[in-house]
Amino acid sequence: MYKDLNNKVAVITGGSKGIGTAISKRFGEEKMSVVVNYNSDANGAEAAVEEIKKAGGQGIAVQANIGTEEGVQKLINAAVDNFGTVDVWVNNAGMENQHETHELSLQDWEKVINVNLTGVFLGSKAALNYFVKNNKKGNIINMSSVHEQIPWPTFAHYAASKGGVKLFTETIAMEYAARNVRVNSIGPGAINTPINAKKFADPEQLANTTKMVPMQRIGDPSEVASAAAWLASDQSSYVTGITLFVDGGMTLYPAFQGGQG
Ligand code: BGC
Repeated sequence: MYKDLNNKVAVITGGSKGIGTAISKRFGEEKMSVVVNYNSDANGAEAAVEEIKKAGGQGIAVQANIGTEEGVQKLINAAVDNFGTVDVWVNNAGMENQHETHELSLQDWEKVINVNLTGVFLGSKAALNYFVKNNKKGNIINMSSVHEQIPWPTFAHYAASKGGVKLFTETIAMEYAARNVRVNSIGPGAINTPINAKKFADPEQLANTTKMVPMQRIGDPSEVASAAAWLASDQSSYVTGITLFVDGGMTLYPAFQGGQG
């Protein structure tokens, strides 16, 4: 637990499931006040709010499309109206789907880029605007992926979006460093979330993925939430512009395990 997080206010996009819910819960344990954003899953967001409250924090679920300026502004307003301010902004919402690139429709490309990259831009812009105008110390955490670094055939749009998140994070981290705003990414590997539920329910696919993880297991959403809490807290006060990989070593070229090469 990080004492400095007590009573801080966070906005988490895509908080209705998976990693977003795990971060919400962890922030509740840190006694924070959390705006849990959702797009369509109101029940999931309400369940996350319950987790926050049970853990000792405060929470509210807010529907908003984070791919729009109005959507992210609605979240800023909800934080300020309900909890008085915003200290931490987590751009967590994301999506993926699989297509060979020669068959990837423009519509699927745009959908994934809109949520995963444009959403990160719009959320960051709204948060930065609030921090700068109010001369306030701020903290932004972007949910990237191991695929900001590892190419992923049949997920070209997803990998492109995460590669974009990497340089966007680094760029705004530099741009706002002297204004007391820290910006970092988290790069999860294979985590046990609804996005992966179907894949990991199949023993063969689960085994294939596990082989690509030096630690030989799938990660738990709470392990990503721990990274988010650390990045949000003053314990990481001199850290900005990084991607903190939470991947059991997936980014370490596991094919070289055993000394081949
Ligand atoms: C994706 C998962 C995938 C993992 C490792 C993540 O970014 O969301 O579906 O299992 O990367 O490839």
